[in-house]
Amino acid sequence: MRIAIAKGRLQNESLAAFAAAGYDIPGEADLRSRRLVFVRDGIEWIFVKDADVPVYVDNGAADAGIAGLDQILERDCRAYQPLAFAFGRCRMMLIAAPGAPRLTNIATKYPRITRQYVDARQLRAEIVPLAGSVELAAVLNLTSHVVDLVETGETVRVHNLEIQELVAEISPRLIVSKTSYRTNAKEIGELIARIQRTVESRPTESVGFGTAQPCPTPLGVTEESQ
Ligand code: PRP
Repeated sequence: MRIAIAKGRLQNESLAAFAAAGYDIPGEADLRSRRLVFVRDGIEWIFVKDADVPVYVDNGAADAGIAGLDQILERDCRAYQPLAFAFGRCRMMLIAAPGAPRLTNIATKYPRITRQYVDARQLRAEIVPLAGSVELAAVLNLTSHVVDLVETGETVRVHNLEIQELVAEISPRLIVSKTSYRTNAKEIGELIARIQRTVESRPTESVGFGTAQPCPTPLGVTEESQ
């Protein structure tokens, strides 16, 4: 079995979730090395960018992983999402400077989600894809608005920006390759069950638009139910 871990913000708590479920995870010394693959107890742990976890799992190059709903939606990931975690929750928001002009264009790291949001609201706006530091686009009037994640709210606060509307509630989720679920049901079922015992809830957020993959019951799900 191969499990994809997102480097960055979600890394430590993702590993802690697997450790709490009794998995032998790579240690700190391992993680300080430049290696991207570690094998422990027959499980291969791979470390990839957060945006790439859904890609590896959706294509079956990894059997499972933990990815934020933001990246799952942006990558149009069709992997199963059996569990949501309590850590790392945040909100995707429409943000603007005070007194901003009417919405004409939106800077974002999430062009696909933002397009769905704009279309669902029947708004007309150009999407301007950026790679990061998105709030700056509203500060410097690169765009009238931005769509970005708000976790503590500190980035919005220090740049004197205003939150205008919720785009989506975001939580990290366990995602499971549909192919792996079919071909390796026993091991995947055990993985889900072990983690489920340690997490508080199943996914409950709705995004109100787009194609969030339904969250199946961990066991006994069929392709037809999707
Ligand atoms: C994320 C996000 C916001 C910020 C929100 O950026 O895009 O900019 O964190 O967090 P806060 O509400 O706690 O301030 P990240 O730090 O990942 O960097 P990036 O802008 O380069 O993507």
